[in-house]
Amino acid sequence: MSVRHLVSGAAGFIGSHLCDRLLRDGHSVVALDNLITGSRRNLAHLEGRTDFQFVECDVTGKIAADGKFDHVWHLASLASPKEYLAHPLETLESGSTATRNMLEIARRDGARFLVTSTSECYGDPLEHPQVETYWGHVNPVGMRSCYDESKRYAEALTMAFHRTHGVRTNIARIFNTYGPRMALNDGRVVPAFLDQALRGEPLTIFGDGSQTRSFCYVADLVDGLMKLSTSEERLPVNLGNPAELTILQFAERIRDLMGSKLEIKFEPLPEDDPKKRRPDISKAKRVLGWEPKVSLEDGLKETITYFRELVPA
Ligand SMILES: NC(=O)c1ccc[n+]([C@@H]2O[C@H](COP(=O)([O-])OP(=O)(O)OC[C@H]3O[C@@H](n4cnc5c(N)ncnc54)[C@H](O)[C@@H]3O)[C@@H](O)[C@H]2O)c1
Repeated sequence: MSVRHLVSGAAGFIGSHLCDRLLRDGHSVVALDNLITGSRRNLAHLEGRTDFQFVECDVTGKIAADGKFDHVWHLASLASPKEYLAHPLETLESGSTATRNMLEIARRDGARFLVTSTSECYGDPLEHPQVETYWGHVNPVGMRSCYDESKRYAEALTMAFHRTHGVRTNIARIFNTYGPRMALNDGRVVPAFLDQALRGEPLTIFGDGSQTRSFCYVADLVDGLMKLSTSEERLPVNLGNPAELTILQFAERIRDLMGSKLEIKFEPLPEDDPKKRRPDISKAKRVLGWEPKVSLEDGLKETITYFRELVPA
């Protein structure tokens, strides 16, 4: 009998790739999403399969998924700054009530549980690169606090379910991930740059472009999530690509790959935008035997191909 997975946030960017991977590995999937930022298009290729079921549902409420599950994955959240700033209350609910609802299912079924947390838990970090033992530098009442604190609460709740009820939990602290099926207009840097580049518009950099980021290709990330989900590690594990570059360097890479002479324009930096972001993945290497394999160039090529089909030339 195949292993049964319950995935929240399944119609989103990472969730849809996770569903693909689980099905490819011979498992069956019940996919939950309220489509607040996700899209049925991301799962359209799975429609009609007997091992896959999509249920449109808000996981902060009653979850309409029958039967017993072996793995419960909680990815549902507003995930991009543009979306969580527009929906702060829903964002806090997805870290709190929704996380609890998904944890209760794992507890009921004796299932494994994995929550996707974020590097935003480190806030605007004072340590660099960020190691899991660093507690972070977060503004608890800033504009971004709805996301950062929601995820910090989700981590605390997950640990409490493990410690109190013995649920087999995992916490993934995901750093910037990119790839096909990212939402075009969600304000994240990769789709924003690609959208502008494909339209021949200047690439917009917020601040002077000296802030750093690191970008992990989605296939690598999903591989890390799979390894983490069967590991015995209960404390958070960073998953991301440690290759760090400035936003200005990144814009220049995209310009080179697109073979265009795009301008770069600068706009004021938003509040609480982290200046440096790079994962220390020694723990993932040690505990999971995982590290990213896809180069930025190869990942960007796949992503550009996907966005070319979406954006009219
Ligand atoms: N992509 C990244 O770089 C990144 C980085 C750090 C953490 N994460 C985390 O990974 C997870 C997936 O992110 P993503 O990039 O795929 O974002 P996404 O917006 O593409 O996917 C999130 C999905 O959750 C759904 N959702 C939100 N609230 C819901 C609710 N109450 N009920 C049901 N569905 C709901 C949305 O409709 C969407 O399909 C999120 O938890 C996010 O915080 C992502």
